[in-house]
Amino acid sequence: MLTKSEQFVRAASLAELEASERLVVSLEGHTVVLFFHQGQVHAVDNRCPHMGFPLHRGTLKEGILTCHWHHARFDLASGGTFDQFADDVRCYPVQVRDGEVWVDLSPRGDPRAHQRARLRDGLEHVINLVIAKAVVSLVDLGEDAAEPFRIGLDFGTLNNCRGWGPGLTMHTAFVNLQPYLDPDDRPRALFKGLTAVAWESRGKAPRFQLRPLPNSKTDPRTLKQWFRQFVEVRDDEGAERCIVSAVRAGADHREMTDLLFAAATDHRFIASGHVVDFTNKALEALDVAGWEHAEQILSSLASGFASASRAEEANQWRHPIDLVALLETAFDALPAAVEAGRSNRGTWVRSDEFVATLLGDEPQAIVDGLLGALRDGATETELAAAVAYAAALRIARFHTSNEFGDWDTALHTFSFAHAVHMGLRRSPSTELVRGVFDGAMSVYLDRFLNIPPAPLPGADGAAAAAPGELQALLDRQQQVNPAGAVVGRYLASGADPAPLLAMLCKVLLREDRDFHSIQTLEACVREFELAKGTPGAAHFLVAAARYMAAHFPTVRSQEQIYQIAVRLHRGEKLYEEA
Ligand code: FES
Repeated sequence: MLTKSEQFVRAASLAELEASERLVVSLEGHTVVLFFHQGQVHAVDNRCPHMGFPLHRGTLKEGILTCHWHHARFDLASGGTFDQFADDVRCYPVQVRDGEVWVDLSPRGDPRAHQRARLRDGLEHVINLVIAKAVVSLVDLGEDAAEPFRIGLDFGTLNNCRGWGPGLTMHTAFVNLQPYLDPDDRPRALFKGLTAVAWESRGKAPRFQLRPLPNSKTDPRTLKQWFRQFVEVRDDEGAERCIVSAVRAGADHREMTDLLFAAATDHRFIASGHVVDFTNKALEALDVAGWEHAEQILSSLASGFASASRAEEANQWRHPIDLVALLETAFDALPAAVEAGRSNRGTWVRSDEFVATLLGDEPQAIVDGLLGALRDGATETELAAAVAYAAALRIARFHTSNEFGDWDTALHTFSFAHAVHMGLRRSPSTELVRGVFDGAMSVYLDRFLNIPPAPLPGADGAAAAAPGELQALLDRQQQVNPAGAVVGRYLASGADPAPLLAMLCKVLLREDRDFHSIQTLEACVREFELAKGTPGAAHFLVAAARYMAAHFPTVRSQEQIYQIAVRLHRGEKLYEEA
């Protein structure tokens, strides 16, 4: 019978342990292996911290315990591991009293601090399972999603000399999706984002952030002018110093939005839209992490601005129609058009004819339509929402006979148009409205992807679909139209969109990370939320389902790793008995 003495619990007789050299004992729910080694008694958690293999079946030699499954090694005295893919194993304090072995089962340290440290280990050493285990544990301990998000953001913006990239963008997209997820999927989404950051930083030199100008009294307006000038000549250091100086001088998120997006739209559709998309995501990341991180986060964007390709250099933007010249003429007319429409604001309604013009094959008519809408009272955000909708329709009506890579052509336009929309919602400016026109020209360039247009699903008389149908559909390849039909029929029935949103996220999360699928779903969900109740809102989710159906299923290796972490956390046994 076990007897207690304060935190200590009697575990075995010393004579019995000396005779067998190792004993497995069950102590108040803990399975502990006792070792008698080199004249000392040790008590160790019998579950290997890597994947739970019983350590009493390991090898003990010269003070090092080796697990037999993946050969993780542990210092028997401290429990510290020599293999970062595992974790330190718990060693319990031991006392020998009157020929009896006593083990101290009192709880150890701060479990949250331990799991945060393990999360950083996983990020530094790019170990998916360590990241998964840390996230699952932190969420179970009640940690807010913002904390592991912040750890990943901090790591990713300091440990990649190339600055902000797709990994940090995915990380932010996943945290944005948190409110739409089933509770079980919330740590899964964090895991996916964090591993994206870890893999993006892998093998990269660190990024050394520049300091702000010393004691600068330069106002944000001048810094904005300098920033645009430095980006123009591709000077990333000058550009970065302007960013950090503006933040240090007290520029708020609207002023920084204005500074960044002005430079991002000084040239046409730079980096196929990625700079605008990344800038929007960095600002959204600060919404979650807090503005006090602005210098570090926003400065990571500078090199992307300076190195971006410019659509002025792309043949399709110059020939056979010089879209750049057409746009520059329109931009000259922009301030007057905005001013003319100011008194009519609140009265403009997006018409089917307007959308048809945006989807048409007359670039001059598209530009005239946009300027006309501004004169008629359309706000910058209403105009941006209309172009984002037209861009989503390119995906919703993408014909499957197109070349597969063209899904991404349509996605790049939509992702850009969405980011412009979000930027204008944050801080409307005439400069960023140029991005609306750029997005519209890219929608025009993508017109061949809808020839012929795939029919839009909706109320087709068929029975209402259940969101769960998507799971079985997306187990098979190329279920593009059936997946779109499930979404269309479900929303046409007037059912609550929340279960559908959760299901779309679920089918995304079980797949291996795909940057463009993540971008598509997150942008479609955000646009759907803003458009909810208006005609065409369903088409955003139809677009998302069709895009994902074209790209799924993947191998789902990341899901397998995540499932291992969950099962270990529950205390399940993963190894097969011999
Ligand atoms: S090394 Fe022990 S379970 Fe993998």
